[in-house]
Amino acid sequence: DADQLKTAAGAHPAATSSGTEGLVRRFRPRLHALPPADQRELDVQAGSIWLLVDDGQGLGTALAQALVARQQRVVRLLGAGVQPVPVRGVQDQVLEGSDEASLQTVLDRITYSNGPVAGLVHLLPAAAPLRSLDEVWDTGDLERARLAYTLAKLLQPGFARMEAGRSWFFVVTRIDGRLGTSGRGLFPLATAGLTGLAKSLNIEWEGSFCRAVDIDPQLAAAPAAAVVMEELADSRTDIGEVGRGAHGERVGIGHEPAPVDEREPVSGVDASSVFVVTGGARGITADCVVALARQVPARFALLGRTRIDAPAPAWAEGAQGPAALKAAAIRHLQRQGGQPTPVKVERLLDEVLHAAQVRRTLQQVQEAGGHAIYLACDITDAREVAAAVARAGEELGPVTGLIHGAGNLADKRIEKKTGADFERVFLTKIRGLECLLSAVPAEQLRHVLLFSSVSGFFGNAGQTDYAMANESLNKFAWMFRARFPQALVRSINWGPWDTGMVNEVLRKAYAQRGLVVIPAEAGVRHFVDEFRAGASAGTPAQTLVGGDSYKVAPKVRRLPALTRVARQIRPADNPFLEDHVVADRSVLPAAAAAGWMVQVCEDLLPGYRAERLEEFRVLKGLVFGPEAQRVVAELRPVEGASDAGGERHVLAVTVLSENGSIPQHRYEARVHMTQAAARPGAPLPGGWTEPAADLFERQGIYGDMARGALLFHGPAFRGLQALWSVDDRGLHASCRLEPVPAQRQGQFAANSFNPYLGDVLLQLPLAWLMLRSDEAGLPSHIERWEQLAPPAFGQPFQLSMQVTSRTRAALVADVTACDVDGRVLARIVGLAFTVSERLRQTLAGDGKPDLAAA
Ligand SMILES: NC(=O)c1ccc[n+]([C@@H]2O[C@H](COP(=O)([O-])OP(=O)(O)OC[C@H]3O[C@@H](n4cnc5c(N)ncnc54)[C@H](OP(=O)(O)O)[C@@H]3O)[C@@H](O)[C@H]2O)c1
Repeated sequence: DADQLKTAAGAHPAATSSGTEGLVRRFRPRLHALPPADQRELDVQAGSIWLLVDDGQGLGTALAQALVARQQRVVRLLGAGVQPVPVRGVQDQVLEGSDEASLQTVLDRITYSNGPVAGLVHLLPAAAPLRSLDEVWDTGDLERARLAYTLAKLLQPGFARMEAGRSWFFVVTRIDGRLGTSGRGLFPLATAGLTGLAKSLNIEWEGSFCRAVDIDPQLAAAPAAAVVMEELADSRTDIGEVGRGAHGERVGIGHEPAPVDEREPVSGVDASSVFVVTGGARGITADCVVALARQVPARFALLGRTRIDAPAPAWAEGAQGPAALKAAAIRHLQRQGGQPTPVKVERLLDEVLHAAQVRRTLQQVQEAGGHAIYLACDITDAREVAAAVARAGEELGPVTGLIHGAGNLADKRIEKKTGADFERVFLTKIRGLECLLSAVPAEQLRHVLLFSSVSGFFGNAGQTDYAMANESLNKFAWMFRARFPQALVRSINWGPWDTGMVNEVLRKAYAQRGLVVIPAEAGVRHFVDEFRAGASAGTPAQTLVGGDSYKVAPKVRRLPALTRVARQIRPADNPFLEDHVVADRSVLPAAAAAGWMVQVCEDLLPGYRAERLEEFRVLKGLVFGPEAQRVVAELRPVEGASDAGGERHVLAVTVLSENGSIPQHRYEARVHMTQAAARPGAPLPGGWTEPAADLFERQGIYGDMARGALLFHGPAFRGLQALWSVDDRGLHASCRLEPVPAQRQGQFAANSFNPYLGDVLLQLPLAWLMLRSDEAGLPSHIERWEQLAPPAFGQPFQLSMQVTSRTRAALVADVTACDVDGRVLARIVGLAFTVSERLRQTLAGDGKPDLAAA
């Protein structure tokens, strides 16, 4: 929400010049616990197989067995020297070469005799403990990363052709179970970047579930195989990376704001600081260097391939300004008898323009008060880098910092990528860093700043290789910081800038999708901020700069005829159940059931939200003892209800329990999902009314009903603050619900439907019955539940309930929620409660609500 971001901009509230500047913020990644994964059936196309790249350490064998036990067909791919235990019913295939042609031959052979590939699980071995930083660049590891990349490329056509069922591309690493962020030990870097590949493919490939799973190496093969099976069946497919700890605990990675106070001084950098800066003579890195030089008179050795000592080419002589240069380049190409295609013209222009940019940067650093030299070299060439670093040392003094900004793009879908693209994009960043670190002793470094990208953090279609490279940089930062605590280490995940490698076409694409583009002035300020004293609070080795999210949810056009998702509900995993106890037993709140129904729909339609539930029925409900219960949600698209463009889908959802032999229907509803943004409705004619005097204060509302409290609900649901104007027609309430901690929400986390706030709406009929009758009731049916812009945790809102029908056995009412401006946030039409005196007895005994006394 743009407005929200604007007001929350914090770090740079004064920034305004170009529209999006105030939206640029700094974040840091944060690991968070993930609840146990709801399990969706492995709906593979009939007759298809799983490919498993064996780790040679036992997980491959255990996973093959686990897949076979689930009636899946498996072919194992074995690298040279891997000799696993044979598994009954599993075919083994030795990989003779990892080049594209020989891999294609192997895949053709496998699919010819076995059928199409449904999924690939690529298991990476846990590395033997590494002793020194030199070992993180292991060439065998780079080969494994390349193998995973090439297999993805070769599997793409088959996945795209698949007509029924889903496909999977999984990478399993054994780093630390925390996605490489724990700082525990050193690990090989190339495969650590495969998270970027998985996240990007998960966006690039429709209908394919791609994920990187990092499992703590301490977890033994059999439980690790169980973990992989759980992840393959996860109903939530929009999460591209998951960590699993030594006991199988799940973590995901998110981000939180990490503003820096601009008034704090830049510290730790001074006139004796000497930075080697790759890519620092052009592009955004150059802008950042100039900005830093303005703050401190530091010294910089700028590295790039562009040669500036060669004389200007003859064709460019005398041409002044970009237009004249372009015309001269076209003339030159024509004179040579060639077609002046845009690519050729650009290449010629680059030669001249790049050199001019380098000279300009040198001059700007000088003018800013710093000192810069330029050293032409290819940073993927260790010898050239060593020579350049030596020169920097001689001319500027001992190197104290690295800024690694060199990078290249080759944006295209993976099936179109060439080996040369991979080299240029992946190796410039990774080998470049390796060359730098072999030329400068790590102990000597006080600053290491890496230019990474949000494409690595979020993944991005068309940027598989680039996302991998940037993720390797991110993981390096966490590892390096733990090993060399003397240095300020930061991998900055930049959002797209309005300059540098982001060209006009990309910029337009970002703007169209509503993604924040960083104006250069804001970008360089954020770069300088990383050197401010407070920037290391919480010591993030990785930061994100830009908008809140660069994740784009694609439209879903086709839904499977039937999707089945199972959830094992363990009361111990769901502490909120303690807040919903009736007659000593935890009862699943109807709103929590609705929340799960929405969740399974969101899992199928990531990025969509529930705008409406219809014909919601509590059939049997769910009551808990201490033991776990297995429930299954069945989702079927409602025929003819989706719109052609895929913006809206309607799903019929049934929840069954499967504990005994006969499945029992528990809940059902039709869920309307949309990509349209949530918007509050027009203000009600009456608007928001301040209660003249609170009739019943909150303290009397909740507690022990047998001792006079009005409602039994515990803290997770205590959203009613005051009730007033209770009469035969209905009642009014003012409300606000404090955020319920994620851990308390357990498996029933608030999503586009918030079950905790939803429950508050459902409390009104019970409150009314308690005050106006001798009976009590529980929700049984809802005709329509509209979510225009449903209230959020902490937001004050009002509820009004109107009784529409009252019989001996039932109460039917409408409930409307509106905000402080009187605008409608949510509306329930036809909320039916089953009513009885017996329930009143159960809940309150002979007690009457005694709000004043409570
Ligand atoms: N611009 C953005 O929006 C954006 C967003 C996120 C992240 N980033 C990251 O920020 C960094 C800079 O991006 P940019 O937009 O400024 O890119 P750019 O304008 O294309 O500049 C790339 C720089 O890298 C240098 N370089 C590339 N390959 C090299 C090699 N093998 N050896 C030595 N130098 C090499 C180039 O110098 P020569 O051509 O002279 O070799 C140039 O200075 C990149 O790492 C990029 O991934 C940029």
